[in-house]
Amino acid sequence: MGAVGGGRPAGLTSHGRARPPPEFQLLPPGPGGGHTQPVRTQVGIIGAGPAGLLLSRLLTLQGVDNVVLENRLREYVEARIRAGILEQHTVDTLTDAGLGDRLHREGLEHHGIYLQYPGTRHKLDFPGLCGRTVWVYGQTEVTKDLIGVQLDGGPPLLFGVSDVTPEDVDSDLPRIRFTDAEGIPQVLECDVVAGTDGFHGVSRPLVTEGGQGRTWERTYPYAWLGILADAAPATDELIYAWHPEGFALYSMRSPTVSRLYLQVDPSERIEDWSDDRIWANLATRFALEGWEVATGPITEKSVLPMRSFVSAPMRRGRLFLAGDAAHIVPPTGAKGLNLAVADVTLLASALVRLLRERQTDLVDSYSDRALARVWRATHFSWYMTSMLHRSGDDFDAQLQLSQLRRVCSSDTAARELAENYTGLPIEG
Ligand code: FAD
Ligand code: DHB
Repeated sequence: MGAVGGGRPAGLTSHGRARPPPEFQLLPPGPGGGHTQPVRTQVGIIGAGPAGLLLSRLLTLQGVDNVVLENRLREYVEARIRAGILEQHTVDTLTDAGLGDRLHREGLEHHGIYLQYPGTRHKLDFPGLCGRTVWVYGQTEVTKDLIGVQLDGGPPLLFGVSDVTPEDVDSDLPRIRFTDAEGIPQVLECDVVAGTDGFHGVSRPLVTEGGQGRTWERTYPYAWLGILADAAPATDELIYAWHPEGFALYSMRSPTVSRLYLQVDPSERIEDWSDDRIWANLATRFALEGWEVATGPITEKSVLPMRSFVSAPMRRGRLFLAGDAAHIVPPTGAKGLNLAVADVTLLASALVRLLRERQTDLVDSYSDRALARVWRATHFSWYMTSMLHRSGDDFDAQLQLSQLRRVCSSDTAARELAENYTGLPIEG
């Protein structure tokens, strides 16, 4: 399919309508020249989060035609503040896909984390423990980089679409119906549909409906209150702190911007948390003699629920799920974005093999291979969450402190955490 290059100047489309700005790209006209005629592509990708955008990039690099449909606007997608930690394999994947320039220039390579409990702050040295590192580089930046290459001559990426409906996914010619940003109904005929539309998307229900799949879920009795602040981080590495009043996490986005989280009750309302109250709680939970949290203007704050969720299989016929569409983890292990990258790395090679070599082996094993890694990350995220959050039960607290002392004193226990945190290899 001839792609509408996002980098082309604004002007008239081939069918005479004013060309919209890149964030309102339209599909090229179908065979009859009209917009309501079906348009064909090899892979129709639903959702322009990290999973969908990276899948599009990996497929494009391998010569596989694709179109990405996103129901939000570009500025919304680029501004969504979420993950901050990239595993080594995520950095390697992005770099190999030609997306490493700004990441390596502006990202911060981290060689470990601090685990803290009252009176103790202990550094886990990742290179010494497992030979790997992680990077601080916001999901907002990953997303901007991916959208940038996509709109610079990449395949169509349509923001602001609605009524996205995958159909006939059990056949070899599935299609996606949707309404484009101008309100015109469209049909995209595909060989494959990729459901990368996040936890609330339309794809997963198609896989699980009619009892074809199953799900597992755990809702935690905790939430995170997250802030972004214009304050130079007072720490060289992230601090994961256990405290009788609740968990706290000290992270960052740059040498001048801090990202901090507090464990709160899920019923807490953000309006009840003044900036002063937030800083006072952070000071208490990170307290260490001779050291202080660096404060500054808070530019964003929100309360985030915490949940584990896995849906299997990650496929129905020609519909493949990847990323948050199939699974979510509580944020304590910093795994969500990295799992999405791992899924699409597997999915891209499986789809290339299917569409270029007509071999079904990798698509047939995709779900099992992806889920093996998903469950490992699900366990690790549960483990970090369980070890660090106050449940209110004093027996739990003693077990948590015992486990923290173990990780801080045994290389074997520390290595297990380090290997999981920095990311296990993606089994191709
Ligand atoms: P999403 O990012 O949710 O993207 C899905 C896209 O699909 C969205 O753009 C959505 O608008 C679009 N969409 C939905 N429905 C439709 C539809 N019907 N039609 C078209 N488009 C649709 N992960 C980490 O690895 N490390 C971290 O440090 C980390 N920290 C986090 C902190 C917070 C506060 C939160 C909330 C999450 C964090 N995560 C972290 C998780 C991470 O952000 C997600 O796992 C990641 O965004 C998943 O990417 P995705 O592309 O699968 O889904
Ligand atoms: C960040 C988020 C996490 O969930 C985590 O474990 C570490 C860092 C962050 O947003 O910076």
